[in-house]
This record gives sequence, C-alpha cells and structure tokens, in this order.
Amino acid sequence: MQRTEDGQTVKLADYQPTDFILRGVKMTLMLFEGYADVSTRLTLERRQGVLADAPLNLDGDELVLESIAVDGLTLEPSRYEATPESLKVTGLPEVGPFELAIETRIVPEQNSKLMGLYRSNGIWCTQCEAEGFRRITYFLDRPDVLAPYLVRIEADKAAAPVLLSNGNPVDSGDLEGGRHYAVWDDPFNKPSYLFAVVAGDLDLLPDEFVTMSGRTVTLGIYTEKGRAAQAAYAMDALKRSMAWDERRFGREYDLDVFNVVAIADFNMGAMENKGLNVFNHKYVLLDPDIATDTDYAGVETVIAHEYFHNWTGNRITCRDWFQLCLKEGLTVYRDQEFSADERERTVQRIGSVRRLKAHQFPEDQGPLQHPVRPSEYREINNFYTATVYDKGAELVRMIATLLGEAGFRAGMDLYFDRHDGEAATIEAFVACFEDATGTDLSQFALWYSQAGTPTLTVTEQWDADQRRHAVTLRQSLSKGAAGTGTEPMVLPLRFGLVGGNGEDSDAEGHVTGGAELKDDLIVLNGTEATVTFTGLADRPYLSVLRDFSAPVTLAHEQSEAARIALARLDPNLFNRWRALDDLLANGLTEAGRRPLGDATPPLGAPVIEALLASAGDDSLDPAFRAQALAMPGEADIARQIAENVDPDRVHEVVEAARLAIGTKGLAIFERLRGSLAPDAAFSPDAASAGRRALANAALGYLSAARGEPSDALAQYETAGNMTDRLGALAILVHRFPGAEGTEAALGDFYRRFEADDLVLDKWFALQAAAPYHGAVETVARLAEHPRFTMRNPNRVRALVGTFAAGNQVGFHRADGAGYHFVADKLAELDRINPQIAARIATTFRAWRSFEASRRTKLAETLRQLSEIKGLSKDLQDIVDRSLK
Ligand code: ARG
Ligand code: ZN
Repeated sequence: MQRTEDGQTVKLADYQPTDFILRGVKMTLMLFEGYADVSTRLTLERRQGVLADAPLNLDGDELVLESIAVDGLTLEPSRYEATPESLKVTGLPEVGPFELAIETRIVPEQNSKLMGLYRSNGIWCTQCEAEGFRRITYFLDRPDVLAPYLVRIEADKAAAPVLLSNGNPVDSGDLEGGRHYAVWDDPFNKPSYLFAVVAGDLDLLPDEFVTMSGRTVTLGIYTEKGRAAQAAYAMDALKRSMAWDERRFGREYDLDVFNVVAIADFNMGAMENKGLNVFNHKYVLLDPDIATDTDYAGVETVIAHEYFHNWTGNRITCRDWFQLCLKEGLTVYRDQEFSADERERTVQRIGSVRRLKAHQFPEDQGPLQHPVRPSEYREINNFYTATVYDKGAELVRMIATLLGEAGFRAGMDLYFDRHDGEAATIEAFVACFEDATGTDLSQFALWYSQAGTPTLTVTEQWDADQRRHAVTLRQSLSKGAAGTGTEPMVLPLRFGLVGGNGEDSDAEGHVTGGAELKDDLIVLNGTEATVTFTGLADRPYLSVLRDFSAPVTLAHEQSEAARIALARLDPNLFNRWRALDDLLANGLTEAGRRPLGDATPPLGAPVIEALLASAGDDSLDPAFRAQALAMPGEADIARQIAENVDPDRVHEVVEAARLAIGTKGLAIFERLRGSLAPDAAFSPDAASAGRRALANAALGYLSAARGEPSDALAQYETAGNMTDRLGALAILVHRFPGAEGTEAALGDFYRRFEADDLVLDKWFALQAAAPYHGAVETVARLAEHPRFTMRNPNRVRALVGTFAAGNQVGFHRADGAGYHFVADKLAELDRINPQIAARIATTFRAWRSFEASRRTKLAETLRQLSEIKGLSKDLQDIVDRSLK
C-alpha cells in the first residue's frame, strides 16, 4: 500500500494495483524452540505495461532476511535492499513468470504484539489481518494480491502433534529426530491476511456437516488439552450457521475441512482465515458453570460471523483496507440476521441498537469520527471500529429495507455471482443492488462517505377540524463532520399511526418536500418533508423509526403521555421498548444536567408505572421485559447530556431511579422472583436465557429497594449456573461493597474458579466496574495481583479496559487518579501490545464533554501520553486524533 510523503498517511485516492502479479505461494515453516525458519517461494510476473526496470517492493515488519534467490540463483547484494520493513529487488525479468525465494528467521516466543506468528501457552499460532503476514515473510502484503498457497509445516512431534493450515490436508509424515511434517493445499485464491498456521498439542472435538449438494465436510474444533467438551455449543452453532447460510443466502461451504482453533492470547474476538478460523478461546469454550447466557450468545454470534466470512470476506475480499466495511459491515449484518432467526428478532434488534448507541454513536460524535469507508488512515488496526462494523451493518440493513427481501436477495446473488474470486469495492457492491433491481442508489451511497450521526427531527400537527395529521421530518448532519460533507442522505423510516385500539391506521398519506411514501415506509431523501395523513377519526400516536430503520439521533417532539401510550399500545414491539427507553433516558438526561445532590426525582410516577406495567405483563417475552428494565448505561446518558458532564451526578440519578423503580415495583419484583425460579436443568436456549435475565433484573431492583444483600447472597449460594452466580455477585460487589457476605462471596468465587482464566477475567472485571471512588485503589491493587498480566489481552481488557470504559465513577474520579492509573498502564502496555493499548485509549476521546476540571485533566493526560518518546504508531494515532 502506498504511503504518502510523510511516510504515515495512506489515502484511498492513491490506490494503485501492484507492479507485479502473484501467481502462487509455496511456504515451509520449520518450527523450533526459540525460533522459526520460514522459506517462501513466490511465483511472480511483471504486470503488462509496467516499466521494465521497475523494482519489486515487498513489505516487512521486524524481519531479518536470511537469503534471497531468483529462479534458483542467489542474488548479488547489488540486486536488492533489505530493511526490517521492506525488501526491494531490481533487475527482475521483463516478461514471463519467475520464482523469488526468500528465507527469514523469526522468533515467535518474543512476539508480544500477537501479530504474525507467535506462541500462546506453547501453541504456535498466527494472526495476519490486517498486516501481520509481513511479520512472517517479505510479501506484497495487501488484500488485492490473491494466490493459491501450498504450506508445509515441520515441528517436533511431541511439542506439536497437531499441524494445521488453510485448505485441505494433502500429506503428512515423520521426519528424523522426533520431528514430523504436514502439507496443506489451499486451492482458493486468497490474500495474505487470510493465511494461518497452528501447531501444538491440542485436543479435538470432531464432527461433520453434509452440505446442500451432499458433500460431507469434516469439522474440527481444537482446544487446549482437556477442554474439547467445552466446544460442544460452538460446534452446534457452527453447524446451524452452515445450514442457515445455505437456506438464507444459498451459500455452500467449499473446502473438505473446516477447522476452528481456540487460543488463550488473542488480540480480538476471532479471525476468519480460510478453512482455519482462529478464535479467542472466550468465544469457543463454554459450559453452564463457567459461562453466562451473554457468553453463550457471544459464542453463537462470533462462530456465525467468522463462518459467514467464508463468502463475504474470503471468496469475495476487499480491494484495499478502505473497503473494510465491505466484508465487516456485511458480515455483521449477516450474523445479526442469523441470531434474529435463531433467537427472537425484536430482542436481538434491541441488543444491536443498544450496542450501536453505546459504541458507535460516541465514536461518530467525537474526535475519532470517521466515515464507514474512511478515506485515509495512519494505522489500519485503529479502523476495526464500531463505525466500520456496526454502522456498516446498519447501511446494509437500510439497503435491505429500501429494496425489500426479494430485491435484497437478488442484489446479494448478483454480488456473489459477479465478484466471486475478486477483491472488490463498495462501489461494486452497491452497483449489484442497483443492477439487480433497477434502483438508483447514488444518493444512498453518501452513507459510506459522510461521517457523523444525522439528527432526524420530527414534529406533528393535528388538525382536529379536518381530521388530518401532518408529520414533518427534517434531517441534519452536524457541520464539518471530519470534512466529509453534509449532503442530505437517504433515510428509510418505518412508521405507523397507532390508534387507541393498538392498531395501525391505514390512512392515506400525501407527501410534500423531499420524501417518498410507500406502505409503512417513508424514505426521506431531502432536507425536509411533510407527510399529511387524512381520513383519521382521532389523533393518532406516531410511531416512527420502527426497528431503528436508520442509524440516526431521533429528536421527536412527543409528549410524555404519547410515549407512555406507545409503550403500551405500539404493535411494533421494538418501538414499545424504545418508548420506554426514551422515557428513562430523557428523565435521566434532564436530571443529570442538574447539580450533584439535587433531589428532584428523575422519573415521574407515570413513567415508572409504564415501566412496571411492561415488567409485570406476563403476555410479553421475558427477554423483552428484561430489556425494558435494563437502565440506559451511564456513559450513554453522559453522551446525551453532551456538555459539562459530572459522572458522579449521572451515577446519582441512575441510582435514584433504580431505587424509585424498585420501591414502587417491589410486589411485582417479588412475584417475578417467585414465578421465574431457576429450571432444574440448565438450557442455553433464548427463552430460558430470557427468564434468567428477567429474574436477575428483578433481583437487582429488589435488592436496591430493600437496601440489603440477603437476596443476592442467597442466590449466590444456591446458584446452579454462572448467569445466576455472576448476576448475584455483581449486585453484591456493586451495591453492597462493605458487607461481610460480599467479601466472602468474592473470595469464594476466586477459590472456586481460580484454575480457569476465562472465569478469572470475570472476577477482575467485576471489581474493575464497581462504581466507587475507591475503585482506583482496588484496580491498582489488582494490577499487582499474581494472576494479572499485561501479556494476555483478555486479562488487560478485563481489568484496565473495564475500569476505563465501564466505570464512569471510578475512572472519572475528580482528582484525576483514574486517568493517571490508566495512562501509566497504557504507556507500559504500549511497549508490549500496541494494538490493545490503542483500543483502551479510545476511552479518553469523550474528554470535551466533561465539566471543566475533568476536561482539563483528561486533555492533560492525553497530551502527556502523546509526548512519550517511542510511542507506537497505534497509540500515537489515537491520542493525536483524540486531541484534534
Ligand atoms: N476480521 C476479524 C473479524 O471477523 C477481525 C480482525 C481484526 N483485526 C485487527 N487487526 N484488529 O471481525
Ligand atoms: Zn469480521
């Protein structure tokens, strides 16, 4: 990829294909204790029209060149220039293919960045997306360079009885000295970021899947020794994903084997390497004693996501990293749809929207804002963001909404047909939907290039004489959104006019201004439009943006009474939830703006009654009722307050609201506790999980109202699964910190689970999230705990990440101690694993929204970080952009 003059910024506008075409890759990796020898043979050919003396420029990262040869002849030193970051070769053949052989020696044991080839608990494994392959060998390490790979792995048989790579296994055997080898052949053209190798002493959970055309695929999930049984749910999710992609998108798996490996030290959730997905073991290993319902849902989603990449990402990949949303946004959309089909659609949608608002909205509304398709970057790893993933998925969802189910499927079919085997662009993707349906999506495509969350303002006017209701819609994008334009976009808005009987009216609508009306969809494509509905008997309740059909901030001037009515009546269940959520958020936001100590109740009695009516309504799905009872997050309220935020005040109003709801609803919560007693046998299905979620929500309110820990203690002691155990422990640690039972339970939890790193992460995270000023000291003490390590990303995220992002009160303590603690840890972590340091550092981005004293301290901390000598490109980029 081209870097500009300053050697830093990569720009979309500078895209150029490579001068050389890669025809094939043959690799041998010889793994030894303390080092690995990598020999690579690349078949290359100068592209037609490229100057005869143009050199070949290969990427590297911390590499040492051992040898280099062209067509079997070792090159004179004058023919090449090698640095750790690059290899330039001159004098290469003008026409026809040639073979370039390169040898490098690397040290996986010292690779603490966990990019390239590294070791995790003795297991050799790789992570190559985005630019990790260049840490293994010199290469054209960019996604538009596709080739088939033949990979031979050699290792000590006792240390690594299992040797895996992409594709199908074609050969294996023993070698001298207790060593052995395996050869893997991946016939599908792929970019280097999808390369993978795993070697180690692993256990296997085997299975198989028969595809829709009747081919049998051998499935395997590899785990640490003794844990294969804990992969059973992941295996089940994998087979359901394979069947779903056939049913829903007509996509069949293509290789003879599909392997998944669970690894303890992993920078992200998982990776879709062709035929060999590598996972953070958090998203594979489960059983009811160690995992919560949330963990089960996470495994299902991530297994599905990585599997779906086989078509959206691998068979069709990205031309360059600016197109990342082409695979990620689309694949998130696909995994969301899978979960909606497998679980409960509305509840899943509520979860996705909560996530969008918690992670993407703050990103889109702060200094790290960028378009779904960025136009430049300094460090690509910093663009695996909520905007690319989650807003990217919303864009695909809007296309589906605009085109309807059949039109969307036709566009997807064309995309698979037209671009299979290619490295594609967003333009190519959008064109498929245009061509398949004859729709012009050029204005819609602005969603990919314009950053920021649009605000949708909705006002209503009821004309009682004419029995007419006028709805005015206006969109605006805050000015200068990262300099990317503020043109009106296409907003598909699902809506209904709800009558007092709880039914949607079929009143005729008439549009003036920039919109189109089709059934229950208003497509706003101008700045403003008014839709006038006639023939209404009574004033309707307007239910707009149903199912969150566009990722906007909704400013709907609607009375509290109308929201309360919709919370009860709306036939669209998602919007019933949103009505309640808005009532809570509005009350908390308004109260949060008043000074600390102000005792005005944040929620009025009618709001609490509406919430309790839903909570107590047994005709509604328990999972839905649990969602309704879940308070908006403190960070979310802070974002809505927008300026001069005092996190102590936000926490105070949330607690006041919780107490008020608990007190008023005591009888309902007691009844729910009784009627939702745990099932004798644990089942992870969505309905059972929903009942547990509602029971635990009730426990939270009950404990708040009673002001004492005995209910939570009782549940902790008798819990038959991790969901109930952790639910109880969270209440104890977060609400009853001094209580005798709390310390005992926390100690008990540690002793019970200390052997299991995944559960220990929960123990660290729970304490890191405890909403007290003293949390800084607790977290600092835990950072000295023998089980804390900076080398395991899950552990760092559990302690430092949770404290920084999930503890508003502790992190933002007025004296700045939380900021200093996190900054110190980041400086230390940056030397070990810059990617994780940069990710956690994004929590500082909201600095402008706080009251003056915290604002100053946050900015000061960022500035100090930015001035550290030798900071990684990853962390420097986040810090610099945050300060902008
Ligand atoms: N492609 C992986 C996924 O499915 C994530 C890779 C993240 N890579 C990174 N360098 N942050 O979503
Ligand atoms: Zn992905």
